[in-house]
Amino acid sequence: MTSTTFSMEELVSLCKRRGFIFPASEMYGGINGFWDFGPMGTELKNNIRDAWWHDMVHCTPDGPDGEPLSIVGLDSSIIQNPKVWEASGHVGGFNDPMVDCRETKSRYRADHLHVITNCEGGGRMYAFVDGDQESYDRASKLLAKYEKVDSLEEGYETTLLVDLESSDFERVVGPDTKEVGTLTEPRQFNLMFDTTVGATGGEDSKAYLRPETAQGIFLNFMNVVDTMRVKVPFGIAQIGKAFRNEVTPRNFIFRSREFEQMEIEWFCHEDEAKKWYEFWCDVRKNWWKSIGLTDENLQMRQHESDELAHYAKEGCGTFDIEYKFPFTDPGFGELEGVAHRGNYDLTRHGEFSGKKVDYFDQLKNERYVPHVIEPSAGLSRGTLALLCEAYTPDDRPSKVYMKFHPRIAPIKAAVFPLVAKDGMPEVAKKLHDALKKRWVVQYDVKQSVGKRYARMDEAGTPYCFTIDGDTLQDNTLTVRDRDTAGQERINIDQVESFLSEKI
Ligand code: GAP
Repeated sequence: MTSTTFSMEELVSLCKRRGFIFPASEMYGGINGFWDFGPMGTELKNNIRDAWWHDMVHCTPDGPDGEPLSIVGLDSSIIQNPKVWEASGHVGGFNDPMVDCRETKSRYRADHLHVITNCEGGGRMYAFVDGDQESYDRASKLLAKYEKVDSLEEGYETTLLVDLESSDFERVVGPDTKEVGTLTEPRQFNLMFDTTVGATGGEDSKAYLRPETAQGIFLNFMNVVDTMRVKVPFGIAQIGKAFRNEVTPRNFIFRSREFEQMEIEWFCHEDEAKKWYEFWCDVRKNWWKSIGLTDENLQMRQHESDELAHYAKEGCGTFDIEYKFPFTDPGFGELEGVAHRGNYDLTRHGEFSGKKVDYFDQLKNERYVPHVIEPSAGLSRGTLALLCEAYTPDDRPSKVYMKFHPRIAPIKAAVFPLVAKDGMPEVAKKLHDALKKRWVVQYDVKQSVGKRYARMDEAGTPYCFTIDGDTLQDNTLTVRDRDTAGQERINIDQVESFLSEKI
């Protein structure tokens, strides 16, 4: 019997126990906002990365009219000329308004703070962090204690902190204090990490770690056009690390300070931007479904005009593909954004560098700066979504199994000799040697077969092959299915074709 509910603590504990994700620098007490992927997590993340690259770059889907499309790959430098970030609007623009607590020294994103206020005005207001149940419960408790009311229905409502008048701030009780007036008004804070290039140091050698992989693509647009015989519309794809000095990294790897993105910049004519925007929203949502996210846990949400990034103010807007994470449930959290960036970035790089950045369309005899539709997915955040989706509480001995889609499962199959004698290990080893040339397959001989199944269930291995006494007589073995725990016998010679068909 399976149930669908579980807490993030249970998932985090499994990730640690089974080698998916560890806190970075754990031996030194960790470092907030940084995580290490263990052996299982690395295989899982690489499988998602490879599936994306295969499906978007090597086997780009056909266009809306069945026409073949082209996307080429890129791997640009993490550190670029600092002028890049002035042109892109990240220096000066990549700021989030922040609120500090003078008493606790905590810092919050202003747009993440809500307050519980008296509908009639006046009195104290109690701030909490949006989407953080613990923070909300704390604010409600203070409300009950000091205002002697039990619920919001009794003349209280919630509102955004950023909507308050300046004069109201002295009446706000911060999310982590009991005192009023400790929160500052929202102030700008730059999210880019900086570093120094070369030995001399100083302001002149300051450079930044990229906060998005996208800019490397824009910088190489002309190089790709000049060398690859591509014709607009076409795309450039890149996967890689991005760094943001997030003020409140939280919810495990959902918001971290170092993470990976999988981005496509799709270059098209302005007149066709709407068509491609709709096309990529559709393709990208379906892609997440193809690797295991279920429809009921996904939703598309159009950005309100005041949420749009500085590069997406004009045009069709931005759709977020959102996933129902356990910490957002019953709400949803962003997994990928599909944005119409107009020709903002190419135009700005043309202006700031003084170099020509445009495209000559020979068929139309027209020169123009292409518009861009950008499907920008989080690889780290996608890995978290797939871990959440896979986590399946159950009454089997392991009490939980990871129901990964076989394509992204870290281990595709395990091979067990039932006991470590009577010729079984030799047969199992031979089978393992053959299978491991094609897939990640684990050989396990330690402990009872039940314990070995339990280990594989927690790792999310779809199939286990067990060699027993009968195998030596009739060349058959048992295949155990992870999801049903059911077993069937097949011939040892059929194992490779069985796995090819299932994976
Ligand atoms: N180039 C556009 C861009 O970077 P974004 O919405 O800021 O847009 C795209 O980021 C995706 O990157 C998000 O949908 C999310 O999956 C991921 N992402 C952004 N910030 C993140 C963070 N601090 N930790 C983990 N993933 C993050």
